[in-house]
Amino acid sequence: MRIHKRFSEDNQVTLYNGDCLKLLKSIPDEVIDMVITSPPYCMGKAYEDPHDDIETFKKQHRDIFNDLYRIIKPGGSVCWQVGYHVSNKCIVPLDYIIYENFTSLSASRDIPFILRNRIIWTFGHGLNSSNRFSGRHETILWFSKGEQATFNLDDVRVPQKYPGKRAYKGPNKGNLSGNPLGKNPSDVWEIPNVKAGHIEKTDHPCQFPVVIPQRLIKALAPENGLILDPFMGAGTTGVAALLENRRFVGAEILKDYYEISEARLKDAASGELKIREDKPVIEPNENTAVAKLPEEFRKAREEIHEKD
Ligand SMILES: C[S@@+](CC[C@H](N)C(=O)[O-])C[C@H]1O[C@@H](n2cnc3c(N)ncnc32)[C@H](O)[C@@H]1O
Repeated sequence: MRIHKRFSEDNQVTLYNGDCLKLLKSIPDEVIDMVITSPPYCMGKAYEDPHDDIETFKKQHRDIFNDLYRIIKPGGSVCWQVGYHVSNKCIVPLDYIIYENFTSLSASRDIPFILRNRIIWTFGHGLNSSNRFSGRHETILWFSKGEQATFNLDDVRVPQKYPGKRAYKGPNKGNLSGNPLGKNPSDVWEIPNVKAGHIEKTDHPCQFPVVIPQRLIKALAPENGLILDPFMGAGTTGVAALLENRRFVGAEILKDYYEISEARLKDAASGELKIREDKPVIEPNENTAVAKLPEEFRKAREEIHEKD
């Protein structure tokens, strides 16, 4: 597979090492079927300027909006994955800013953005807070540019908990009540995040798992459609696009991460990249040593209850 550096609609893959705004300006009007991205949260990560703050986040989004809007096809989709900006013990939900920004900036256009879903992505592990409840979710806002053209629900159905359930009343009484292909995955997705030890982990500090863009692409982008990630990081959206036979264009400003993306896309194209498949999270086996309550914890709990 050839990786192109300059954008053309005919390219299978275009990877740009530089500012996404420059890439967006080189893309003609209405050629992108779908955008999936997770922008910097402006919180002092390795890839951010330490002076970046919530105002930087807002400005960055205002600056790219015109070109972003211009290059998306009518009926195309935009999926923006964000969490929270944390500063001075205060948390700011970034999806609130994106929602406000994208709906107000597109309101006066011929085809405004419409919010279709706010997906809650929940995961079991992360930092443990001692002064508030530990954060275990982020969100994905899915907008369509006008009426969305594609929604392939059957391609993303997930297993039912009780597939053998039957209708207990009405005309279908006694018949299986579910869809044979599985159920709608809903707007709450439980998917492990990419931490140390995850099969997909690279040197990038904030990857999302491949299955997130993969589900979104299967459901919302046409076969061979063109997918854009303006903040591609380790190239996860590109990997998902290749695995699902779609074309990809992405930008990454930092050389090290750009090179990770390049290597991952090549491995994905040759079938060598390892990814965690889209399967339900399994509850831990109660019989394993790590699942058992350690004696020290049992004693500590007893002591606390005795004090009560
Ligand atoms: C949250 S990370 C994206 C991670 C990605 N979803 C993944 O799974 O690897 C955001 C990325 O945007 C990059 N970035 C920041 N500003 C950028 C800009 N103006 N143009 C292109 N990339 C930028 C950062 O270097 C960082 O790698």
